[in-house]
Amino acid sequence: MEIDRKAAGKAFSAYVQAYDPQNPKIALKIAHTYRVAALCETIAQSQSLCSADIDLAWLTGLLHDVGRFEQVRRYGTFNDAESIDHALLGARILFEEGRIRDYLASPDEDELLETVIRLHSVYRLPQQLGTRARMFCHILRDADKVDILRANCETPLTDIYNVSPQALRTARVSPAVMESFARRQATLRTLKKTPVDNVVALASLTFELVYPVSIRVVQQQGYLQSLLHFETDDPATAAQFAQLRAEMDAYLFAHTQA
Ligand SMILES: [Fe+2]
Repeated sequence: MEIDRKAAGKAFSAYVQAYDPQNPKIALKIAHTYRVAALCETIAQSQSLCSADIDLAWLTGLLHDVGRFEQVRRYGTFNDAESIDHALLGARILFEEGRIRDYLASPDEDELLETVIRLHSVYRLPQQLGTRARMFCHILRDADKVDILRANCETPLTDIYNVSPQALRTARVSPAVMESFARRQATLRTLKKTPVDNVVALASLTFELVYPVSIRVVQQQGYLQSLLHFETDDPATAAQFAQLRAEMDAYLFAHTQA
């Protein structure tokens, strides 16, 4: 199946024009979209997929956060728990309202695209997912996480989590969050109790990455390292981060040695 990437890119930029691209929240999501699409392409290439499937992976990146624009217009927030599931909203806009035809003439891959977009932000993929859909889900979810690490490091943590610099510099990592990190698991939202737990949760996304190339991109970006060199006034927190860095270094070493 042919994907006209130029036409799809034009359709996306026309779509977001209606949502005030000068608004910083919108601008962030537009930049995120293009980066995720490019990362999907990189990951797909690393798996030696055929060119049609590389294009398809790129398209999942371009479309994955379509729901974000309508979410912020309706609710003024990107917090799904306080508003709406942006992945389901995006799937509805594309496949129930038919906007997908603005991006892609053929309906051949609609089912796959809808599945991948719907599932891009769930905590765990459903067991019964087929091999091909699972692969495209993994590609998109890896790309999204890699760019979430970047985006969250480029915005001051005090802004993202609405905490004072003082609160951030004096907080400790909760024991349950330390334990979850030691088990190499992504931190569950319910475990987070202190402002620095968010920092650890962000770094822990690395454990969820499926493809070696995703881990290599994370290492090259350097954001993970700066997160784990967290500046604190509390020696106990400094010791916690030294331990987290050692655990992450061991993990990265084991997962990037081919
Ligand atoms: Fe998303």
